[in-house]
Amino acid sequence: MSTPLLSLRREGLRGVITGAGSGIGRACLDLFLAHGARVDAWDRSPDALADLSGQGNIATRVVDITDAESVATAASEATESWGGIDFVVNCAGAFLVGPLAEVPVDAVRKVFDVNVLGTTVVTQALLPALVASQGAIVNVASSVALKATPSNSHYAASKAAVAHLTRCWALELGPQGVRVNAVAPGPTTTTIYQSAGMSAEQESTLLRERAATIPLRRVGEPVETARWIARFALEDDWTTGTVLPIDGGMSL
Ligand SMILES: NC(=O)c1ccc[n+]([C@@H]2O[C@H](COP(=O)([O-])OP(=O)(O)OC[C@H]3O[C@@H](n4cnc5c(N)ncnc54)[C@H](O)[C@@H]3O)[C@@H](O)[C@H]2O)c1
Repeated sequence: MSTPLLSLRREGLRGVITGAGSGIGRACLDLFLAHGARVDAWDRSPDALADLSGQGNIATRVVDITDAESVATAASEATESWGGIDFVVNCAGAFLVGPLAEVPVDAVRKVFDVNVLGTTVVTQALLPALVASQGAIVNVASSVALKATPSNSHYAASKAAVAHLTRCWALELGPQGVRVNAVAPGPTTTTIYQSAGMSAEQESTLLRERAATIPLRRVGEPVETARWIARFALEDDWTTGTVLPIDGGMSL
């Protein structure tokens, strides 16, 4: 018999994954369920959650993480229905590409609203439950939070904020037994680029150009990031304040 990959904190861990309808969040959901976790799957898109209804160990909630009131309601319903919360994975995010000279201010505001304030509002709403369970927070930053790139400065800055919140929250919450870590993925094949308004052709050009600059010469798959998120969320280890690049060496 093979040794299980993860050494779980305990059986049947309960928690929230935001952005669970697609991409990296969906890959997390699949992996967490495979490890016996019970997951409250949040997404702003009802369509993205539709195929999950009626499955065991999942509750789905249509939540826009920029809406603090709806987040507060979802957090209290999730905590009550599972009897506690052991982890939160802040995966929902928005992408923005465009040079400084052209980027609309409203788009900049929106990307910070989702990536920085959304991550904050969700974590704040679940914090009492996470403190009670000595739980784990996993944020999703980006390799561009670690290494500057041209043409997506505001997205990169929003993810640099997520990385720094991770370190600050780790200091603040460590004494209460809550671990806070982040992953920093490189370019990964998901729907995020087309959701940000890029055409399929622009997306494939961007991913091809990025792949050519990555030491391992390819972009990532969602499960490659989900595996590390699972370790941070489900295991009981000594990491906190880590911002782990998962990017084929892109951020070197
Ligand atoms: N794909 C990449 O290349 C890449 C690289 C680095 C970091 N990331 C980050 O990974 C995370 C997941 O993105 P992905 O690539 O899997 O994209 P994705 O578009 O496949 O999935 C994102 C999900 O989040 C949901 N979402 C977006 N805004 C939301 C909101 N306000 N409230 C609730 N749900 C919302 C979307 O409906 C979608 O289902 C994001 O934080 C993204 O910034 C992605």
